[in-house]
Amino acid sequence: MKKIIAINGSSRRNGNTAKMLKAALAGAEAYGAEGEFIQLYSLFYKGCASCFYCKQKKKIHGNICATKDDLTPVLEKIKEADALILGTPIYFMNYSSSMVAFLERFLFSNYLYRFPDSSIFPKKLPSALFYTMNATEEQADLFHLPDRTKAYEEFLGNILGVPPKVLSAYNTLQFRDYSRYEASIFSEEDKKAYEKEHFQDTLDQARFIGIKLIGG
Ligand SMILES: Cc1cc2nc3c(=O)[nH]c(=O)nc-3n(C[C@H](O)[C@H](O)[C@H](O)COP(=O)(O)O)c2cc1C
Repeated sequence: MKKIIAINGSSRRNGNTAKMLKAALAGAEAYGAEGEFIQLYSLFYKGCASCFYCKQKKKIHGNICATKDDLTPVLEKIKEADALILGTPIYFMNYSSSMVAFLERFLFSNYLYRFPDSSIFPKKLPSALFYTMNATEEQADLFHLPDRTKAYEEFLGNILGVPPKVLSAYNTLQFRDYSRYEASIFSEEDKKAYEKEHFQDTLDQARFIGIKLIGG
């Protein structure tokens, strides 16, 4: 049975990012795969310690991160998976800190300062990156978001041996009831209308990506 892992970089376990990840898992599971959802925010871990254990000549074949914490079993599980999906909300026009710390550990422990063969990830692993954000697509472009996310997309593709599929949800609904918060730059009515028109379509695309990642 194929195994697909979805990693949520949002603190909200049922938020927009989680919904996209769960739609992808449901798609893959409908085609016989086993899905696992990992909520980073529930784990206690740090970013890369820059200890270079993973690059010691005697150790590199294990591609092991020497820092031992809640991320350790996650890093091991990814080596056994058949597909990987990472989801992150956009915070200050970047990945969430949970996702960045995860990526530091995952990417660096599978990367060597050499060319060619800089990746020591044990196989080619199909992957996807899901983004959710308040910004509209036009606003995201205005703030050069595609340029900002490009580096991680390329690093991930280089480590896993195949470029990730990228899917973004724009203009997401952040609160159910906007009247409870100071958020006067947003119109709840417009946000809800946009969600009704677009979010289901994004979830369908996420589901399709889940199916494709496990070869369905
Ligand atoms: C700390 C923080 C920073 C944010 N910064 C941005 C931002 O720079 N651009 C943006 O479009 N949305 C930003 N947002 C909104 C979230 O990206 C958006 O609501 C996202 O869909 C939340 O995902 P979730 O429902 O999975 O938590 C921010 C939200 C938070 C909590």
